[in-house]
Amino acid sequence: MTKKDFLRRRQDLMDIMGPDTIAILPNAPIANRNRDVDYNYRGDSNFHYLSGFDEPESVIVIVPGRPHGEYLLFCREKDLAKEIWDGYRAGQEGAIDLYGADDSYPITDLDDILPGLLEGKEKAFYTMGKLPSFDQRMVGWLNHLRNASRQGKHSPTEIIELDHTLNELRLFKSKSEIKAMRYAADVSAQAHIRAMQFTQPGQWEYQVEAEIIHEFMKNDCRSPAYPSIVGGGENGCILHYIENNHRLKNNDLLLIDAGAEYDYYAADITRTFPVNGTFSNPQKALYNIVLDAQKAAIEEVKPGNHWNQPHEAAVAVLTEGLLNLGLLKGKLSKLIKKESYREFYMHRTGHWLGMDVHDVGDYKVGGQWRELEAGMVLTVEPGLYIRDPEHIDKKWHFTGIRIEDDVLVTKIGHDVLSKAAPKEVDDIEALMAEAK
Ligand code: GLY
Ligand code: MN
Ligand code: MN
Repeated sequence: MTKKDFLRRRQDLMDIMGPDTIAILPNAPIANRNRDVDYNYRGDSNFHYLSGFDEPESVIVIVPGRPHGEYLLFCREKDLAKEIWDGYRAGQEGAIDLYGADDSYPITDLDDILPGLLEGKEKAFYTMGKLPSFDQRMVGWLNHLRNASRQGKHSPTEIIELDHTLNELRLFKSKSEIKAMRYAADVSAQAHIRAMQFTQPGQWEYQVEAEIIHEFMKNDCRSPAYPSIVGGGENGCILHYIENNHRLKNNDLLLIDAGAEYDYYAADITRTFPVNGTFSNPQKALYNIVLDAQKAAIEEVKPGNHWNQPHEAAVAVLTEGLLNLGLLKGKLSKLIKKESYREFYMHRTGHWLGMDVHDVGDYKVGGQWRELEAGMVLTVEPGLYIRDPEHIDKKWHFTGIRIEDDVLVTKIGHDVLSKAAPKEVDDIEALMAEAK
């Protein structure tokens, strides 16, 4: 993203905020891993969305119409000794020159300056409950102003959830956001191809994971968007399996759910393929049901359809497929109504995708499923997970299958951003055979 992108976003926010308002947004805190070791820092998505600024201990303040500057960035001061140990800091000059702040102050001055900025405003856009230690400070500043009301000071009478306001903006992706997401999806698709080419019986799941991470990093995606799921056989039936520490067995399927993060944007792709390169007949039968369900769901992604239509399409195809294989018994319409498929398909068919892998944005508006509109991006990810229920023939046991793509809603329909990752049985088998 460029400085212009961030400026446009702040302007969009200010248009919504209106006059006599203020927005306050602290960045995410550093998370400790163990003793002196912290997790790699990844800033709050909304903070990055507005600023492109990625240092911890920073706070964005936006005051529409403020004569001395509308966009204030509080951040760490430059400090050579600290920079030698922990890395570069933009400081106040950098906040203005590099990140387009109208004004910048040391983060240590926040308590002195914030009450003055809050004074006289009618509404404060701030998200309570996300960062309790910052909530305390906010309450302190507001109380300070309330206590000074006899001196004619006025404190905001309304607190409006800033995150919700930003979430609705983030739901609609701009051209440059779509470009970043397309790239993240492309790199991730290549990583899935690489995993298919690499996989052999006897390998450890984490060795396949290493191939995926290598492909991400080699292509400028420094981190996965979420911990990769690399689950062979029965581990493919664990929806959030991230241990990735078992050996791959000859006749098992391998389910990989992995996506790269590029410039703060996520891809989220799942592919399932045979460890030895060839699907068995039962595996193929189940796989093709999931694939048909996924294709039917993707067909429902178009403007004017509502959020739940892809899920409804997937559920109909999955249930019919299970019925045809004898894994469910009864009348199709009744099985769908009773949600009998839930024994084998217990999650929903997708979610919004963007800066967060489970991205922001409401799914219902006014109590109704939201209509899909151009610029939204969602995943379509049906699956079937058959562990070892006694009433099911053993030939189906421990088969976990999910196929997940990232789909952009366009003006006339959809565009599958992750289409470079093969998903037809023949294509996967040919790719794996060629790699041997
Ligand atoms: N990778 C998380 C999900 O598919 O929702
Ligand atoms: Mn996924
Ligand atoms: Mn997903």
